[in-house]
Amino acid sequence: MCLRERERERESMEKYYDVVIVGGGIAGLATALGLKRVGIRAMVLERSHELRATGAALSLFPNAWRALDALGVAHKLIPLYSAFTQGYVTDLGSGKVVQFAFSGPQDGEGMGVRPVHRKALLEALAQELPPETILFSSKLASITTKVHQDSSLAVLHMEDGTILNAKVLIGCDGVHSVVAQWLGLKAPIHSGRMAVRGLAVYPQGHGFEHRVQQFVHDALRAGFIPLNSTDVYWFIIYKSCVKGDEAPKDPVLIQKDVLENMAKDFPSTYLDVVQHTDLSTLTLTPLMFRFPLDLIFGPTCKGNVTVAGDAMHPMTPDLGQGGCAALEDAVILSRHIGNSFIKDGGIRSKGIKEALEGYVYERRWRAAGLITGSYLSGWVQQGGSSWLAKFIRDKIFYGLLYKRFFEAVDFDCGKLPAGSTVAEEN
Ligand SMILES: Cc1cc2nc3c(=O)[nH]c(=O)nc-3n(C[C@H](O)[C@H](O)[C@H](O)COP(=O)(O)OP(=O)(O)OC[C@H]3O[C@@H](n4cnc5c(N)ncnc54)[C@H](O)[C@@H]3O)c2cc1C
Ligand SMILES: *[C@@H]1O[C@H](CO)[C@@H](O)[C@H](O)[C@H]1NC(C)=O
Ligand SMILES: *[C@@H]1O[C@H](CO)[C@@H](O)[C@H](O)[C@H]1NC(C)=O
Repeated sequence: MCLRERERERESMEKYYDVVIVGGGIAGLATALGLKRVGIRAMVLERSHELRATGAALSLFPNAWRALDALGVAHKLIPLYSAFTQGYVTDLGSGKVVQFAFSGPQDGEGMGVRPVHRKALLEALAQELPPETILFSSKLASITTKVHQDSSLAVLHMEDGTILNAKVLIGCDGVHSVVAQWLGLKAPIHSGRMAVRGLAVYPQGHGFEHRVQQFVHDALRAGFIPLNSTDVYWFIIYKSCVKGDEAPKDPVLIQKDVLENMAKDFPSTYLDVVQHTDLSTLTLTPLMFRFPLDLIFGPTCKGNVTVAGDAMHPMTPDLGQGGCAALEDAVILSRHIGNSFIKDGGIRSKGIKEALEGYVYERRWRAAGLITGSYLSGWVQQGGSSWLAKFIRDKIFYGLLYKRFFEAVDFDCGKLPAGSTVAEEN
């Protein structure tokens, strides 16, 4: 076979898509669904062979519930998970307990703050997507560009050698995003803290009240959160500079370290929860964030390529806002693309670039604010025994700042415009 034929054969095997989303996590699935709601079909490439629920569970604040409502899935999850009214933070050093209320100032819809299983959230989003939207076992390795029939395309080189071409590329590929790197965003920074997370299962019922329980002790912060009457999500966050790839992976060893070392002086209820862990859910993760100025001034979009979720704004989990912000991104990005699409009646060169720029412009300050707020909150809550950190934590944080925080998570990302070609399904 001569070179030219081989070239032609390769070309004919390449696939062409309008919109490709890399990453089938919260951001990727929510963006695919948002785009579907405005009448645009997107492909989702996910490197794992099934939906990946690393982290077991998460808390969703009113901003996330509004976004899920705009996406049309809030009603599927709300009946399964009750809202919290109260939380407790116990300082194990002094024995002092601070109580805080979990209600936003104008949470009119009453959706409140609710925990969800990650798996349930991902499935609720995925179930609304047209069949075969998600291509599993598809890992993006690198990106180039090419000009094809007068338009510029992103060329996606998959790890297995496949090549896909996309008019629009949205990177929802998490903290270590290949798309963010291609855009030229600076790599995220290690916060010097790690988190262990797991799901404890009590087949006969755990009997805990429906409350968020947190414990702070020196430089540790831990907690547990009932999800429903059988399942309890727990976490512990500690200081460590170990890189992700050097961290232990064996769940048995991680659990042992928590029980016998890190949390050995914790209340027996906490240890009991850790002992009930379903080991398949237990993970250890380094906590990373993007420097806010890198996000504000960095290249968050280029031509028809942008990023959403952790790929755009990785943040420490101290305000529980990473996933919530990813859902906001999905709605706002879909709205910008949808509006340009509806005006244009198709994916057109001019419209799409402007739509992505509009999205980035709308998001970057808010996301940078959440990164900063999360980092400061982590510093205050886990600053250890310095008198200043303690003073701020006890006197200011759980009082005054918490109110400000609830204003920030009361953010309303708005609704989606109705799609012009949405009629196909439902
Ligand atoms: C300890 C901890 C607690 C947290 N608690 C909360 C909370 O209570 N509330 C909250 O809102 N948020 C919380 N978060 C943050 C939240 O987990 C993240 O912000 C959220 O998961 C981001 O979703 P994402 O879709 O952007 O990224 P991810 O969830 O990381 O998903 C990225 C997806 O892309 C895939 N992928 C990656 N690279 C490639 C590639 N090259 N090719 C193909 N696919 C790829 C991955 O397999 C994955 O499925 C917490 C985080 C931590 C660490
Ligand atoms: C709690 O949620 C899990 C995961 O969705 C589910 O398997 C379990 O049956 C639920 N428990 C109850 C009592 O509903
Ligand atoms: C964006 O996509 C459109 C439609 O395919 C294309 O015409 C245009 O060249 C692309 N622009 C860039 C900068 O990639």
